[in-house]
Amino acid sequence: MRTAYYFVVELRRALFYRPSETRRAFDALYTAAEDPWRYGAEPTAAAHHPVALRLLDRHLPPGSTAFEVGCGEGVFTSLLSSRCEVVIASDVSTVALDRLRRRDLANVKPMVWDARTTPPGGSFDVVVCMDVLSYVHRPASQRSTARNIARLVAPGGLLLVSEKNQDELVESAWWARLLRRGARNVAGNLHRIDRELERVAEDTGGDHLTVVYRRGDQT
Ligand SMILES: C[S@@+](CC[C@H](N)C(=O)[O-])C[C@H]1O[C@@H](n2cnc3c(N)ncnc32)[C@H](O)[C@@H]1O
Repeated sequence: MRTAYYFVVELRRALFYRPSETRRAFDALYTAAEDPWRYGAEPTAAAHHPVALRLLDRHLPPGSTAFEVGCGEGVFTSLLSSRCEVVIASDVSTVALDRLRRRDLANVKPMVWDARTTPPGGSFDVVVCMDVLSYVHRPASQRSTARNIARLVAPGGLLLVSEKNQDELVESAWWARLLRRGARNVAGNLHRIDRELERVAEDTGGDHLTVVYRRGDQT
C-alpha cells in the first residue's frame, strides 16, 4: 500500500514536472530564506559533506581543478576550495550564486549553469554533484543531465555524486528504476549512463549514498 502511495507521488512529479520553472523556483526558495537546506542550523543536514570530503581526500591529487554542479550558497564549495587549485562553482539560481560570491573565495569562480543544458567547455580533475539530479523529475531528462555532467570529467578524473537515501520501499521498487528515483538509481548507476565511468568508491554515511566514479584514461 505504501509503495503504491510513493509510486503515485513520484509519477505525478514526473508527469507535472515543469523544466522551465526550475530557475524561478530555486530563486524563490533562496530569496525566502538564507540556508534553505538548514546546513548551518541542523548538524545532520550537511552530514553528507564530510563523507564527500573523506572520499575526495582519498582519491584526489593536490592541485586539482574542480567543477561543482548545483553549489547553492557554497557551503561545500568553501570546503572544496581549500583542497583544489581552482573551483568552478555552478548553479541554476543566481540568488544562490550571489551568496556564494559573498564568501569571497579567491580560487572559486561562480557560474550560472542549468545542468540540463549543454555543458560549458573544459574538463576537470573532479566534478562534484550533490543533491541536484533528484530535482530533475523526467527520467530521460535526468539521464541527459547526468551525461552533461559526466562530460565535464577529464580523462582519469573523478566524478562524485551524492543523493539522499529514500525510504527502502522506493530504493528497492521496480518502478523507481524506470522513474529514476531513490539514491541507488540516481547516484548509483552512472556507469550505465556513461560507459567510460568506473565506480571506484562509495559510502552510505550521512543519510546519503555517495559514489565516486573515475573516467578511463583513454577518452
Ligand atoms: C539541495 S541543494 C544542494 C546544494 C549542494 N550541492 C549541497 O549538497 O550542499 C540543490 C541545489 O541544486 C541546484 N539545482 C537544482 N536543479 C539544478 C539544475 N538543473 N542545474 C543546476 N543547479 C540546479 C539548486 O539551485 C540548489 O542550489
